Amino acid sequence: MNFQRTLVTAALPYANGVLHLGHLAGAYLPADLYVRYLRSRKRDVVFICGSDEHGVAITVTAEKEHITPQAVVDRYHPMNKSAFEKFGMSFDNYSRTSLPIHHRTSQEFFTHFHRQGVLKEKEELQLYCEKDAMFLADRYVEGTCPNCKYTQARGDQCENCGTWLNQTELVDPKCKLCGTTPVVRKTTHWYFPLGDFQKRLQAFIEERSKRDRWKENVLRYCESWFKDGLQDRAVTRDLSWGVRVPVPGFEDKVIYVWFDAVLGYISSTMEWGEQRGTPDLWRKYWQQEDTKYVAFIGKDNVVFHCIVFPAMLMAWNDGGGEQFILPENVPANEFLNFEGQKFSKSRGWGIDLQDFLKYFPADPLRYTLALNLPESRDSDFYLKDFQARTNNELAAIFGNFINRTLAFTEKTFHGVVPPCGPLGKIDKEMTATLKSLPATIGTLYERYKFREAVIETMNLARAANKYFNDSEPWKTSKENPEQCATTLHLCLQIVRSLAILFEPVVPFTAQKLWTTLNLPGTPSGEGWESAGELRLAEGHSLNKAEILVMKIEDQQIDNVIQALSGTPASPAPVPALDVKPTITLDDFKKIDFRVAKVLAAEKVSKSEKLIKLQIEIGSEKRQILAGIAQYYKPEDLVGKSIVVVANLQPVKLMGQESQGMLLAANDPAGKVTIVSVSEEVPSGSVVR
Ligand code: MF3
Ligand code: ZN
Repeated sequence: MNFQRTLVTAALPYANGVLHLGHLAGAYLPADLYVRYLRSRKRDVVFICGSDEHGVAITVTAEKEHITPQAVVDRYHPMNKSAFEKFGMSFDNYSRTSLPIHHRTSQEFFTHFHRQGVLKEKEELQLYCEKDAMFLADRYVEGTCPNCKYTQARGDQCENCGTWLNQTELVDPKCKLCGTTPVVRKTTHWYFPLGDFQKRLQAFIEERSKRDRWKENVLRYCESWFKDGLQDRAVTRDLSWGVRVPVPGFEDKVIYVWFDAVLGYISSTMEWGEQRGTPDLWRKYWQQEDTKYVAFIGKDNVVFHCIVFPAMLMAWNDGGGEQFILPENVPANEFLNFEGQKFSKSRGWGIDLQDFLKYFPADPLRYTLALNLPESRDSDFYLKDFQARTNNELAAIFGNFINRTLAFTEKTFHGVVPPCGPLGKIDKEMTATLKSLPATIGTLYERYKFREAVIETMNLARAANKYFNDSEPWKTSKENPEQCATTLHLCLQIVRSLAILFEPVVPFTAQKLWTTLNLPGTPSGEGWESAGELRLAEGHSLNKAEILVMKIEDQQIDNVIQALSGTPASPAPVPALDVKPTITLDDFKKIDFRVAKVLAAEKVSKSEKLIKLQIEIGSEKRQILAGIAQYYKPEDLVGKSIVVVANLQPVKLMGQESQGMLLAANDPAGKVTIVSVSEEVPSGSVVR
C-alpha cells in the first residue's frame, strides 16, 4: 500500500482514576514514540486520544462519593490530560466522550445500524438486584469467571484472563453495591451480530497481519476469539449514565460503553478538525483509503480493537455511504509490573504518573520505560533499574559524550565549530556509522520495535564515546591541531544527530540540546534523515552548555519508596524446608532432563486438570500429559521451550499415554508454573 498519511490513536483511558506507569508502557509511550518519529520523517500524521467517560466504573465511584458521574470525570479528565502533557505526550487532540460531539457521533452510528437492520432486538434474562431495584450491568456485578475461575470477574469482562463475558455466564454473581445475590429478570436490549462478521474479520486480520506484520501476541488473542466463535452482543444497557439510545421506546437505556468509546477516536478527530476551522478534515484521516490507521492499546483491549471496532466499521460501510478505513495494525503491548508485582488500584500498589513526575523529570522515565516495554511479554519496572539506566546510560553515556564534546569545544575552540580536515580511518568509520543509522533506527520504528530502536540510538552515543577516546583529542590538540579540529568537528555533528535521533525518546532533553547548539526550530523540524548528514557549519558558534541529564541519588529513590502508598501483597509465610532423603550424584545422573519444544496442546476432554501436549525433543516427537489445565490455556503453551524428564517410564492417564513428564514449580498455594527456558535453546539439549 502506498499510504499518504497516518492516523494514530491511543486507547482512551477511563476518567475514573489517575494514570500509572503501566498505562504508559502499554499504549501511550509506544504511540508517542511512533508519532514523534513519523513527524520527524515529515509524514502527515494525526495523533488522537481522549478520556473514556462512560461506563459503570465511573458511576460506582460517583455513588461511593455521593457525587454525580459528571463530577467524577470532571476531576480526572483534566488531571490525566495535564499528566500526559508533562510526560511529553504529543497528542494533536485529547477529547472526552461526555462532549456533545461524541454523543452525536455515537448516536449517528447507532441509528444507522438500527435503520439498516443490523441490530437485533432481543428479550433476555439479565441479573437484577431487588434490593437496589436495578439491573446489574457490567461492573455492578461480580462473580466467578467461567473460563479461569477468577473470583472477581465483572459482568462484561474477566480482568484476569481477558474473556469478554455475558453477565449471565458468571458463576455465583453478587451485586457490587449491596453484596446480595441478584435474581434474573427479563429485559429487552439491542444486540450487535458479531458472529455474522466472523469470516470477514478473519479475512481482514489475515490480510493486514501479513501486510504490516501484526504482533504474535495480538494474533494469538484474536485466534482464540475466533476459535470460540463470535457471539451476538448486547450493545445497550439499563443505566442512566452514558450515550442515550436514539431509538423511540428505548430512551431510558444507554449505549454500552465499549460501543461508544471506540467511536471516541472518530469524534475526537472531528473535534480537532473543528478547532482548526476545518470541520471536514477528519474525513481525510478516516475515510481515505490511502491513510494508514494504527491503533495503540494494552492487551486487555485487543478484542475491542481487532474485532468489535472493525466489525462496527464494516457494518457502517455495508450501508453504502462514506466508507471508513480499518486499522492497518493494532500493536498491543502486554502488561508492565511495578517492582515485581501487578499494579493494583485496590491495593494501592504502584505509582501514579503525576506523583512520579513530582520526583523526577519525564525524560529518564520515558527512556527507562522504552527499554522495558512489554512488547511481547509482561515486563517490570524497578526503581533501581530506573536509577541505573538514568545514571549509567542516559548520564554516563549520552550525557557524558555531549558534555565532553561541548566542554572541549568551549576550551579549545572558544565554543565555535572547528573546521573539518581530511578524514582518517576512524573518522571515516564514524561518519559511515552515522550515515547508516537514521535508516536502521527508522526501520525499527516502522516495525513497532521500539525497544530495539532505543537501544540502537543509545549505541550511537556508545560508538561516539569510543570514537572520542580513540581519537585522543587531548593529545592531538598539541601534536596535530588539524586532526583535533576534525575530531571535534565530527563529535559536534554527532551531538546534533543525537538530538534528532533521541527526540522521540527524550523530547525535553533533545530540545534543550538543540538550544545549546544554537540551532533554530526543533530537532524534529530538521528531519530525521538529516541526522545522517554533517550539517553543522564550520564557524557556527554554540551556546553555553547546561547539565542535560541529572544523576539520581539513592536518597531520591528511597524517598519515593517511602512515599509509596500501597503495600505489596505480603508474601505467604515460608514453611520450613522439608527435603527428601539425600541421593548420590549417580542417582541424579540417571535422570535424563531435556529441553523440549511444545508443538501442539489441547485439553483432555472430561478432565479438569489435564492438558495433552505434543512435544519435540531433538529429532523425536512425543506426547505427554500434564496436570496444568487450571493454570494454562493450551494455546499459550504452543511454542514454549520446556524441560522434560525424557527417560521416565510411560504411563496411561485417562486412557491416554504420557511419554515423559514436564518440570513445573508448585508454590505453597498449589499454583503451578512450568519451567521454561529461552526459546533460543534447541530442543533435545541436555539439562543437568
Ligand atoms: N477505557 C478503556 C480502558 O481503559 C479503553 C477504551 S479504548 C476505546 O481499558 F477505544 F474504546 F476508547
Ligand atoms: Zn477469567
